Amino acid sequence: MSDQNEAYQSYSHEHRKFAPPAAFSKGAHIFGMETYQAEYDRSIADPEKYWGEVAEDLHWFKKWDQTLDASEAPFFKWFVGGKTNLAYNCLDRHVAEGRGETPALLWEGEPGDRRQLTYRELLKEVCHFANALKGLGIKKGDRVAIYLPMIPDLAVAVLACARIGAVHTVIFAGFSADSIRDRVDDCGAKLIITADGGYRRGKVLALKAIVDEGIADCSSIEAVLVIRRGGALSVECAMQAGRDHWAEDVLEGTSPDCPAEELDAEDLLFLLYTSGTTGKPKGIMHTTGGYMVYTYLTAKYIFDLQANDVYWCTADVGWITGHSYIIYGPMQNGVTQVMYEGAPDFPDYGRFWEIVERYKVTTFYTAPTAIRAFMKWGDEWLTKRDLSSLRLLGTVGEPINPEAWIWYHAVVGGERCPIVDTWWQTETGGIMLSPLPGVTPTKPGCATLPFFGIEPAVLTEEGDPADAGLLAIRKPWPGILRGIYGDAQRFKETYWCKWKGAHYFPGDGARIDEDGYFWILGRVDDVVNVSGHRIGTAELESVFVEHPSVVESAVIGVPHEIKGQGLVAFVTVKMSAKHDEALKKELVTMVDKAIGKFARPERILFSSDLPKTRSGKIMRRLLRDIAEGKALGNTTTLADPSIVEQLQKQYADGTK
Ligand code: WTA
Repeated sequence: MSDQNEAYQSYSHEHRKFAPPAAFSKGAHIFGMETYQAEYDRSIADPEKYWGEVAEDLHWFKKWDQTLDASEAPFFKWFVGGKTNLAYNCLDRHVAEGRGETPALLWEGEPGDRRQLTYRELLKEVCHFANALKGLGIKKGDRVAIYLPMIPDLAVAVLACARIGAVHTVIFAGFSADSIRDRVDDCGAKLIITADGGYRRGKVLALKAIVDEGIADCSSIEAVLVIRRGGALSVECAMQAGRDHWAEDVLEGTSPDCPAEELDAEDLLFLLYTSGTTGKPKGIMHTTGGYMVYTYLTAKYIFDLQANDVYWCTADVGWITGHSYIIYGPMQNGVTQVMYEGAPDFPDYGRFWEIVERYKVTTFYTAPTAIRAFMKWGDEWLTKRDLSSLRLLGTVGEPINPEAWIWYHAVVGGERCPIVDTWWQTETGGIMLSPLPGVTPTKPGCATLPFFGIEPAVLTEEGDPADAGLLAIRKPWPGILRGIYGDAQRFKETYWCKWKGAHYFPGDGARIDEDGYFWILGRVDDVVNVSGHRIGTAELESVFVEHPSVVESAVIGVPHEIKGQGLVAFVTVKMSAKHDEALKKELVTMVDKAIGKFARPERILFSSDLPKTRSGKIMRRLLRDIAEGKALGNTTTLADPSIVEQLQKQYADGTK
């Protein structure tokens, strides 16, 4: 519990409170604490009635027979017997209801090329693409991997899968070839969709080449569909005859009509791999109906989406934020959104603010790590732009430090925009804790109150309510993960291990304050949140031990000024091996190859041994104390206490 207590200390001085701006509240979907409270109480008293009513807003080919089936908990089913289609609700519904000419995507490539698509145009592209997928033999239930840059075709590919009932698994384009292989093998993907390349910070990423390496030995892959990124980009791609197809060739002659498949509410919609506490990422399963209803409503109320909004979520579609709050949530609400391909600091630090000004962005959703980077780059990049179109700001991915919150509020939001600090996870499908912008007085660094239908609690290990402890969610909600692909046991052990399986366990520590607000204190397991990206320390450790010179390793998370947390690796090498910079480089290259550059450790330290208990358990707590330069806790249980002194000295020498 000591980690949480430290976080508790650092946040407990924070008493500032910001009322929702009156001008904002006036036009908001949900206005006033009393309305929120009444609606919340209603949603908790009878969740089935509540969610049933929400679902009526959306299109169903056949209405459900039962709203929630909890008979096989924790394998919950929502909207049982209902038939629907998410792509239909994201696209066709708007066209049918006269919103077809509303711009859906205002896209900007990193080099400055632009594309705009209305909902009608997007629907047409999705239909063509869905027919192309069918032409390649893709059917309902088949898994399709997607490895694309942030181009409109990414949204098209995802929605085309959803339209025909193929299960998409988007792999963030920063992942390495090995990561592609692991994911494709785990889910048995038949097809992988990629591009010749994409841009990132002025460089071209040769994505097809990475895919080729990744799938070289993947027996499930029958075809590779390659999209031309277009614009000035041209990358030579080796095309394997019979397996690889240019998208333009497959699309040619396809029909613009493709009726949306009538899918069962519990048909698998997508898999998204995320890190856990073992070396193997988990394929988080989300199904159609519940995820649809949950992302629809959370997007509508938390971002207070209105017809004239220009919404911009800066996440990549490769992460859950992009799934729920670029594709599915905002599109079900028919909002216009900005999509940007590249880095925030290309060609200069002002790129995001130039985009906000150009498209008159009203709603801006980003991560604390980005906010801290903006702060570092300096206010002048913002003050020279007109940001007056902004009316709402959001953050996600990690706890936001109050200093960054205050800066975001003042410099980006001009003190007039409410900030929604949204806590949720890949597994929860949508936002669980967040202020409602027209309702909730906010506190810097605090995710505040639960969304409708969500009943959180802070509990001890034993299940007793506590002011600070483990976050728990007491009831199922429509967006809850349905499992880990191919591993029901791990699903139960990971999320339902505590409190005799009575509540969902997210793996985060939290505290409740005097107003009943929830403060998230960070992970309580061996998952580190680097720039909002979850990385399992075990994943890195298993990479290092593959090196012939390495005996063992322990990886920990340490505070990092910009990234929130960074990784430090303690590595024990064989007596015969050289402990030199060359070895460090080799280890870093192994991380790049096994996971991706974003998982590189900040520091690697060689040691002759690691601090262990007499039963051989590595004491990570002591390693964290060393890395943070703290007085060491109790070392009497160590098998060899001299090891920590040696490591402490080595660490301090290296930081001088
Ligand atoms: C952390 C991202 C504090 C948390 C949507 C969670 C947060 C993990 C917040 C999930 C927040 C996310 N405040 N911590 N507003 N949002 N987290 O699956 O530790 O990539 O368990 O989902 O990020 O990360 P994931």
